[in-house]
Amino acid sequence: MRIVLMGPPGAGKGTQAKRLAETFGMVHLSSGDILRAERSSGSEPGRKMKSYMDAGELVPDEIVVAIMAEAISAQPAEKGLILDGFPRTVPQAEALDVQLSALARPLDAVLVIDAPDELLVERVAGRWSCPQCGRVYHSRYLAPVRAGHCDTCGAELIQRPDDAEAVVRERLDAYHRQTAPVIEYYRSRRPIIQADGSAGPDEVTRLVTEALAARGAAWQGKHGRGD
Ligand code: AP5
Repeated sequence: MRIVLMGPPGAGKGTQAKRLAETFGMVHLSSGDILRAERSSGSEPGRKMKSYMDAGELVPDEIVVAIMAEAISAQPAEKGLILDGFPRTVPQAEALDVQLSALARPLDAVLVIDAPDELLVERVAGRWSCPQCGRVYHSRYLAPVRAGHCDTCGAELIQRPDDAEAVVRERLDAYHRQTAPVIEYYRSRRPIIQADGSAGPDEVTRLVTEALAARGAAWQGKHGRGD
């Protein structure tokens, strides 16, 4: 099973993708995490993307498509895939279609998690992440057992610099202008599953797990096959 996971900043894409990947035995590729790692590496594309990410704008398509194409190709064909945050523009969606069709690994569904903007701003402002294992917390909704430390690996939690309110509003604006049209792009091409992300994290997990299980992912997960 291969799915694209879409939604505005703070909708819970990363939170749900990690849980779904575990439940269904799929590989989770987050474009945000991959771009942040590239940026930290100090590479030429990494240096180019810095100003866009700091301002809450989308990184140019040619940079993102090249980096994501490499990450996707590196995954074993027999494993399922959750693409979290990619594609985020119609040209990215077109490039992904071309690549997946050449690899004979078509997308099975597009999962969209959405919530109202004001709720999203509050969520992102309260987010804390583990720099070591990537687990995501919220100071109010998903607090770690020991304040400031990851429950899984014990590392000290950090806040993302692009989570400042002004930058989050830019990111929301980019979502509405550039990413929402991608849902329309997929509407005539792939099954779209829409989930209300304003419920609590466990309720959202239940909703999306049920929806994906109905598409056959449960069987594949249970049998150790993500394909
Ligand atoms: P990226 O890292 O992808 O950020 P994003 O899409 O803005 O999404 P977030 O990571 O902020 O939110 P999320 O939906 O994953 O929510 P989370 O689960 O963490 O991208 C960052 C930047 O990289 C972009 O701005 C852009 O510059 C660049 N970029 C990335 N991909 C690109 C692309 N394809 N093209 C061009 N540029 C690209 O949850 C948020 C918080 O809420 C957490 O604290 C969590 O604990 C909490 N929470 C989650 N679910 C719930 C719930 N149901 N109830 C209560 N709290 C919840």
